[in-house]
Amino acid sequence: MILVTGSAGFIGANFVLDWLAQHDEAVVGLDKLTYAGNLESLASLKDDPRHIFVRGDIGDAELAGRLLEQYCPRAIINFAAESHVDRSIHGPEDFIQTNIVGTFHLLEAARAYWGNLTGEEKTGFRFLHVSTDEVYGSLAKGEPAFSETRRYEPNSPYSASKAASDHLVRAYHHTYGLPVLTTNCSNNYGPYHFPEKLIPLMIVNALAGKPLPVYGDGQQIRDWLYVRDHCAAIRCVLEKGRLGEVYNVGGWNEKANLDIVHTICTLLDELRPRQDGKSYRAQIALVTDRPGHDRRYAIDAHKIEHELGWKPAETFETGIRKTVQWYLDNQGWVNNVQSGSYRQWLEKNYAGRG
Ligand code: NAD
Ligand code: DAU
Repeated sequence: MILVTGSAGFIGANFVLDWLAQHDEAVVGLDKLTYAGNLESLASLKDDPRHIFVRGDIGDAELAGRLLEQYCPRAIINFAAESHVDRSIHGPEDFIQTNIVGTFHLLEAARAYWGNLTGEEKTGFRFLHVSTDEVYGSLAKGEPAFSETRRYEPNSPYSASKAASDHLVRAYHHTYGLPVLTTNCSNNYGPYHFPEKLIPLMIVNALAGKPLPVYGDGQQIRDWLYVRDHCAAIRCVLEKGRLGEVYNVGGWNEKANLDIVHTICTLLDELRPRQDGKSYRAQIALVTDRPGHDRRYAIDAHKIEHELGWKPAETFETGIRKTVQWYLDNQGWVNNVQSGSYRQWLEKNYAGRG
């Protein structure tokens, strides 16, 4: 079996659902269930004997050690993190605790467990760390996309904490020989995405008749990848990746934020037109920019394609249509994640933006 941390979050839940749709190999999920963790995303696995869920912190080395001894996984896939840049600007401490200290404790537990393995169990074990393109910083217009050898230049407390975790993972391979793999992926979108991030926030706000808050001039560029393509890339790296290597994962799909918002409005105009006959574009509002806002990210995904044969299956056009349709079809999930703490976050992040 495999141990998946952060399994109730956006990508972790998609990963577990996809994994069990394709394998009979069991999954132990470990998730602290912060505001971003939602067991409802895994509700379809409730009676599935291949899925065990444990609520807990990756920073609890004793718990992680116990789970490793009990379930003897052949791999750990580490998704658990604080993941929202804006939250890291308002309050960085949780990011330091989970992304750096938590990853350290998980690495320690993995090292102790792996150290006691023998034979094929030892040689086959993997620690796969899921990271982000944001560790590389911001690209100027026309600059080549981020390759794996690009210098780390993280600009937000979030990306700095992820960069630190990447360095720890690398060091555990170099110093102790822990069989690690790291993936650095661009922006994901798709089902079960918490509506604090750009794409789901825009869909949810549009349908609620609220403003669509675009930061600054809306010309910041992100490289969007459908979440199930990211999950496929992680499975591919897990099975075929070379030990100690880093693989950048991206969709070859650079788009400006305002273009993303326009696309969402156009799809909603078609699938769920406003009652007054106007376009959802009427709700777009340019608001005060994010401090330290990175201008452009783009991933050079040649290495994973040439070495491991992974390529995204979804185009942005097919993926974003599926995503908008998913939010229209899953209003119950959306309503349930909009708790009191979610509303407090919206107040904190958006009230002061003119
Ligand atoms: P998310 O915020 O939706 O989910 C994170 C999950 O981790 C939540 O379920 C949360 O409860 C859990 N968690 C938080 N702290 C924990 C702790 N201390 N112990 C155990 N569980 C804890 O994030 P996501 O978008 O699914 O991202 C998953 C991973 O992928 C993160 O490491 C992130 O840095 C990385 N990543 C995300 C993207 C993206 O576009 N979303 C892109 C590249 C990389
Ligand atoms: O690049 C990978 C990263 O992508 C991941 O590591 C992060 O975990 C993930 O959250 C994401 O970070 P971003 O900051 O790029 O994602 P977010 O959805 O928050 O914002 C995308 C862009 O949209 C960014 O340029 C900021 C802008 N934005 C965001 C929000 C929430 C707005 O214009 N308005 C908004 O309300």
